[in-house]
Amino acid sequence: MSSEEETSLTSSTSCSSSPPSTSLPPASHFIGRKEDIVKAGRVTKMVNGCRDILVLHHQGQLHAMDVRCYHSGGPLQNGDIEEFNGRLCIVCPWHKYKITLAEGEGLYQAVDNPTAKPLRTHWCSKGVKQRIHKVTEVNRNVYVTLNNSSEAMESDRYQTERYRTGLREAPSKPKSNE
Ligand code: FES
Repeated sequence: MSSEEETSLTSSTSCSSSPPSTSLPPASHFIGRKEDIVKAGRVTKMVNGCRDILVLHHQGQLHAMDVRCYHSGGPLQNGDIEEFNGRLCIVCPWHKYKITLAEGEGLYQAVDNPTAKPLRTHWCSKGVKQRIHKVTEVNRNVYVTLNNSSEAMESDRYQTERYRTGLREAPSKPKSNE
């Protein structure tokens, strides 16, 4: 684990600092003890000195994704989790975009016929927009393996040092909907 990795929990608990080193998955990064993550619900962490991720526990499952929303950089660690069309999503607190926890797909409601009354809608996918990372649990230690797919994803643009510097200099606020 890199010394640059810093964990932040959304509750007042803190993760154990050093994991036992048995059966570590390759290229994995220690996030914390499972019980600490379950208790906190959400953990944010800089992984491998280059990626800000969110690890969350919901309905017995652990998920990991880029922490900044693909739309405009909203803080997903503050988003609610809701089900849409049978799929669990995190809802960005800034403009309410819905992102599936499992795939990082952006979901939206499309209107079937704008002239029909009442309006009927159905759920559609914009495709994968948010980079999802792999979570592994070994002996109740939780690790994340970064998704290094070369396919660009929209959430990547908020993972640059330039963006982080901008955040440090100006408080993070919702931007107008784009
Ligand atoms: S920043 Fe997430 S919905 Fe706009």
